[in-house]
Amino acid sequence: MIGFLRTLLSRGEPMLADATARDAGAIAALHAASFRRGWSEQEVEGLLVDRGVVAQRVVVGRTFAGFIMSRLAADEAEILSVAVARNCQGRGLARQLLNLHLRRLAGLGVRTVFLEVDEHNAPAIKLYGRAGFREVSRRANYYPHPGGQTAAALVLRRDIG
Ligand SMILES: CC(C)(COP(=O)(O)OP(=O)(O)OC[C@H]1O[C@@H](n2cnc3c(N)ncnc32)[C@H](O)[C@@H]1OP(=O)(O)O)[C@@H](O)C(=O)NCCC(=O)NCCS
Repeated sequence: MIGFLRTLLSRGEPMLADATARDAGAIAALHAASFRRGWSEQEVEGLLVDRGVVAQRVVVGRTFAGFIMSRLAADEAEILSVAVARNCQGRGLARQLLNLHLRRLAGLGVRTVFLEVDEHNAPAIKLYGRAGFREVSRRANYYPHPGGQTAAALVLRRDIG
């Protein structure tokens, strides 16, 4: 029943926009639902008011459906996080967020974008591969997995300048 209601509320046109400090609670909640190590609302708010951080969000109907966030350093940026709510995945929202984000970064003079992704994160690897990111290095045993397993982090890069 709850799943049905969530799906109903998440219908409609996706509305993409720059994220502001008012999105901190929704981003923290989505981050906590998406990653093993959560960010507190205060941490997210601190990032959103940081002039060196760029973030966009997408809302569908009444659902906060996703966000993407990068930190800038000179003409480089690192994507810190991207997540789409589970009931909104597989509809191209991450692709739209990433496209808008890369346009914003390019507009700010960024020439190279980096990120780290778990070698087993198939949706994210597909998303970034399609957007032109290429693997430049690999950090072994970087992400802890349940049962004492670990996974490598792939470091991906895309030039946009
Ligand atoms: C990664 C994530 C943001 C993708 O969001 P999304 O809105 O579902 O992605 P899109 O619909 O734009 O699809 C992007 C690509 O991933 C593929 N994909 C989506 N879900 C998939 C799945 N479960 N398995 C394999 N590929 C998948 C899509 O087919 C698409 O590839 P295509 O263009 O070749 O068809 C989402 O899965 C997520 O929030 N995951 C948890 C957080 C996370 O891991 N973030 C990335 C950290 S680096």
